Amino acid sequence: MISLGIESTAHTFGIGIVDDSKKILANVKRMYTTEEGGLIPAKLAEHHVTVCGDVLHEALTEACITIKDVGIVAFSQSPGIGNSLRIGMQAARTLALTHNKPLVGVNHCIAHLEMGRALTSAKDPVLLYASGANTQIIAYDTGKYRIFGETLDLGVGNFLDAFARDLGLGFPGGPHVEKLALASSNLIELPYVVKGMDISLSGIFTNLRGKIKTGKFAPADLCYSAQETVFAMLCEVTERALAHTGKTEVVFGGGVGCNIRLQEMVSRMCAERGAVAYCPPNQFLVDNGAMIAWLGLIEYNAGVMENPDTVQIKPYLRTDQVDVVWR
Ligand code: ATP
Ligand code: FE2
Repeated sequence: MISLGIESTAHTFGIGIVDDSKKILANVKRMYTTEEGGLIPAKLAEHHVTVCGDVLHEALTEACITIKDVGIVAFSQSPGIGNSLRIGMQAARTLALTHNKPLVGVNHCIAHLEMGRALTSAKDPVLLYASGANTQIIAYDTGKYRIFGETLDLGVGNFLDAFARDLGLGFPGGPHVEKLALASSNLIELPYVVKGMDISLSGIFTNLRGKIKTGKFAPADLCYSAQETVFAMLCEVTERALAHTGKTEVVFGGGVGCNIRLQEMVSRMCAERGAVAYCPPNQFLVDNGAMIAWLGLIEYNAGVMENPDTVQIKPYLRTDQVDVVWR
């Protein structure tokens, strides 16, 4: 059985094609970008509509199949920006209706976790999901993927992007901050805010903005210190989730997971407590259609399906509201 998955929760429009042996036949994406990095929902929708045909054609060509070979069509149904989600849903719905294929709507955050399980040896991991908009620590417990900790304000990626913008670095900011941080080992004290299992980044952002304005701090020192501080916060809440659940595996999800320093810090924390950290390749850490196709396939095999005539997007559905009937 071949599954075609459409991702469109935010700035990425992606189509992935996978089969039930976990083989990834195609993973094509286009990202909407602006000079400043801000997203205008109407423009985003326009972008997704414009690239949809090309991405579909490219994905089918890459997979060496035609739409007739596709068994099911999956799409990201939640959570995300309404304008953006709607385009992916319409594309999936049209394919399902015109080619008479089953339609499956999936949760984007859970797709990151299931992709991590599919691509690594992790069996029952804690997911450190650190992307632009999202920062959550997620793990399975009694029928649901529960959120054990999350950011109370900014997502880590958005924090890095905004901080990088203040420094005059390009967008997306995460990779620029990572590169500049390598040139320093001078740790400047910054607010460290862990509240129970949650983190908060707005205070550290304001503090950094103030420091940048004084012109007295070397950008490399600020990048190094921001990474060390914020990644230590992520390690602490991830470790708390491991301790609380008794699990012994961590998988990364989200674009910030591409950061080598974050990977090093989490791996070290895991090793010190007899756990293991697994990291999928970068193209599956960032938003991608393959993970949507994969979760769609798992859910379909467990009997989950949408009625294409009445299907809706669910922009505000949280990870822990989904019944995990496939585990
Ligand atoms: P979401 O998954 O919440 O819809 P998104 O689409 O913004 O959000 P991703 O595509 O997973 O998320 O990741 C984008 C983010 O990852 C950006 O904020 C970017 O700065 C960050 N990022 C990418 N590479 C790195 C890196 N090497 N180090 C740190 N951050 C990075
Ligand atoms: Fe994501």
